Amino acid sequence: MQPQQQSARNLEYLSGFGNQFSSEALPGALPVGQNSPQKVPYGLYTELLSGTAFTVPRSEARRTWLYRIRPSAKHRKYQRLERQLDSALGAVTPNRLRWNPAPAPQAATDFIDGLMCIAANGEPSQPAGASIYRYAANQSMERVFFDADGELLIVPQQGGLKLMTELGVLEVAPLEIAVIPRGMKFRVELLDAGASGYLCENHGCALRLPDLGPIGSNGLANPRDFLAPVAHFEERDEPVQLVQKFLGELWSTELDHSPLDVVAWHGNNVPYKYDLRRFNTIGTVSFDHPDPSIFTVLTSPSAIHGMANIDFVIFPPRWMVAENTFRPPWFHRNLMNEFMGLIAGAYDAKADGFSPGGASLHSCMSAHGPDHVSTEQATSAELKPHKIENTMAFMFETGQVLRPTRQALESPQLQDDYDSCWAGLTKTFDKNEK
Ligand SMILES: [Fe+2]
Repeated sequence: MQPQQQSARNLEYLSGFGNQFSSEALPGALPVGQNSPQKVPYGLYTELLSGTAFTVPRSEARRTWLYRIRPSAKHRKYQRLERQLDSALGAVTPNRLRWNPAPAPQAATDFIDGLMCIAANGEPSQPAGASIYRYAANQSMERVFFDADGELLIVPQQGGLKLMTELGVLEVAPLEIAVIPRGMKFRVELLDAGASGYLCENHGCALRLPDLGPIGSNGLANPRDFLAPVAHFEERDEPVQLVQKFLGELWSTELDHSPLDVVAWHGNNVPYKYDLRRFNTIGTVSFDHPDPSIFTVLTSPSAIHGMANIDFVIFPPRWMVAENTFRPPWFHRNLMNEFMGLIAGAYDAKADGFSPGGASLHSCMSAHGPDHVSTEQATSAELKPHKIENTMAFMFETGQVLRPTRQALESPQLQDDYDSCWAGLTKTFDKNEK
């Protein structure tokens, strides 16, 4: 038996990260002792969904066996959709970029229509890199979607989402995240009037928990706080549009049934959710600000050991107690590329201009850090223990340079005066005063 947890809305979940779960929505639907019996209980079809090549090391392997009403193979030709995502990349720029929150859509917009690509650093045909989007929707999806180009990390900023996936139902609200494996079919229903947030499409290795090194066997995001759904199926014999994203383009076919018809399943290639408030935040109890890698929730490794394809990093509420220390993030120029978003509250390195729903992009070797107001406050602050509260910023950090899209560069939300937040950093050097 797997340990189970109840959510606030009373949905049932399976607890743990990377587990070999099993779940059945009808008693006895899951074959016992083998994957592919001649006849499956209840007349179901057997199907394998693999998330990795068969021959990767066992510790890397992800796959799930599905027992479903109709096999996914039963579909007609996909047709290229007229309405496509605009992910054309814009001009290269080393400049620091920051965007205000985007207004809510006025026209009827579902989760797929409401995707806006902001930046990307990979070709979907290659097993590396990521594409970063904002989403904004005011309608539940009626169609079903899957992404052949990558795994999806959804970071809600406003409004709750009900994710109806092949393996079951996940509900997520702001301050929670969800991850949908590559190729898994799902429909996004809105739990509130509108919903918006951020999305990272990971073309590389699937996200996993970071190694903990000297931290030991506990801390940061703990495995049992990750929740996978239990089996739930739709028996709907009516037309359903199925959309897939394949090499950057949207394709569609019409089925005569709901493809969310998996009655039982077992495996470790699963969608999951995580409550960011469960993150065990670790920081200094002596002096100096640790590297922000201490805030990593999930990581997708690249071919270079220790260099992430994508890290998902958060800046949660936490106590600041460092003695004789400049407490905000230091000024820095990093190899890694940093896309930041703000889910709630304020970020401690920016006094203004970085709003919930906004975003910033600091590319390889771009110089950045606290703005001049935050710097002045931090250098003159009385260093009492101080709690940073009501905040949740995050970062998608990646080893390859993120190129902004043309539409992100032409967006009216792009700030043209971002550089000015550092303009007030005056010369304080005086060679006669130590
Ligand atoms: Fe940074």
